[in-house]
Amino acid sequence: MTKTGTTVSEPVAFPQNRTCPYHPPTAYEPLRSARHLTRVTLYDGRDVWVVTGHATARALLADPRLSSDRTRSAFPAVTARFAAARNRRLALLGVDDPEHRAQRRMLVPSFTLKRATALRPQIQAIVDRLLDAMEAAGPPAELVSAFALPLPSMVICALLGVPYADHDFFEEQSRRLLRGPSAADTQDARDRLNTYFEELIDRKREEPGDGLLDELIQEQLREGALDRDELVSLATLLLVAGHETTANMISLGTFTLLHHPEQLAELRADPGLMSAAVEELLRFLSIADGLVRVATEDIEIASTRIRADEGVLFSTSVINRDTTAFPEPDTLDWHRPARHHVAFGFGIHQCLGQNLARAELEIALRTLFDRLPGLRLAAPAEEIPFKPGDTVQGMLELPVSW
Ligand code: HEM
Repeated sequence: MTKTGTTVSEPVAFPQNRTCPYHPPTAYEPLRSARHLTRVTLYDGRDVWVVTGHATARALLADPRLSSDRTRSAFPAVTARFAAARNRRLALLGVDDPEHRAQRRMLVPSFTLKRATALRPQIQAIVDRLLDAMEAAGPPAELVSAFALPLPSMVICALLGVPYADHDFFEEQSRRLLRGPSAADTQDARDRLNTYFEELIDRKREEPGDGLLDELIQEQLREGALDRDELVSLATLLLVAGHETTANMISLGTFTLLHHPEQLAELRADPGLMSAAVEELLRFLSIADGLVRVATEDIEIASTRIRADEGVLFSTSVINRDTTAFPEPDTLDWHRPARHHVAFGFGIHQCLGQNLARAELEIALRTLFDRLPGLRLAAPAEEIPFKPGDTVQGMLELPVSW
């Protein structure tokens, strides 16, 4: 494949499966040699831009001429599942300013660093309980179902005021939403989650509890600042985004550490490195690999013209390995400054839950490796299944022993 300016001659297909669960797909090599942005082909044959350079990504993610509104007819569909979801308006993540700003303002107080810090003892208690149960039943254990998934699921339930007793139901619907076998299946999962939240909101109106959903019902729904559909959409987004992503970081983070014994030993010897390690793992793993926007006007950037109505994707795994921002990017290095990664996105939609995610990851990984010094994979690494490229990246299963 030859390089012409900032573009490669033949667009590669996007997204593609990773070959190693923690590296960008080898099929993205041509993207990695494009300096700023290049073209890729989606499943439906449409060609769109994909941003590959770190500085260009931050400039474009902060540019109001790129829209996140998936109900726009020109908005690109990255998968058939995504296409099926575009008829329904998605709160927050799927709206532009000024509407976005108004919705985000309602949520920000619940997701500050101070709130995440105040939740740490509760997160630690959940981690301890889950590991007590895992130790009592094992070894071996399947770490995704015993630890990586229930932890963020319990935390987001407590924060929102959603009964954790319903977790089998909503974990299954999130799985179908993010990687169901067909568009119809995804649509059905979305409908079920909507009905679930409609009923929960009605119950909470009768009998208020003390979660974020209760606050939103009291303060925003009653005042008319949010309507019921918007609240249902927000609740679904927070629940799904709040547990799937962090669960994937815990499972893939653990796998990656077990595959990098030197870095793991260094971390064990100096627990003070943990918060830097979490940042580096976020960069290195880039689990949300493919943010999607559409241009509403022509944009000139990096000697390239993006035209109105063209689709623009951001491959975070490629951007977070841009050598100009991260020297020797394929090396896992706790000592590099990594916090300018785009694993949480950038600009107005930058992850609302990042403080919470960081707190969960630090506590989960530190306690897991402290309590189980002999932790190891219970199957050959190359046989452990991981998620396909068209969804959030992570391990499907993680058999471990100690
Ligand atoms: C390590 C785990 C996580 C990762 C890697 C992650 C990644 C991301 C990314 C990349 C975006 C930006 C999407 C875009 O610009 O298109 C985002 C947005 C968002 N994330 Fe996270 N996330 C994580 C954890 C969480 C948690 C725990 C929550 C808790 C509720 C959460 C809630 C959200 C919300 C609500 C948005 C939309 C924000 C907006 O549109 O203003 N995320 N996340």
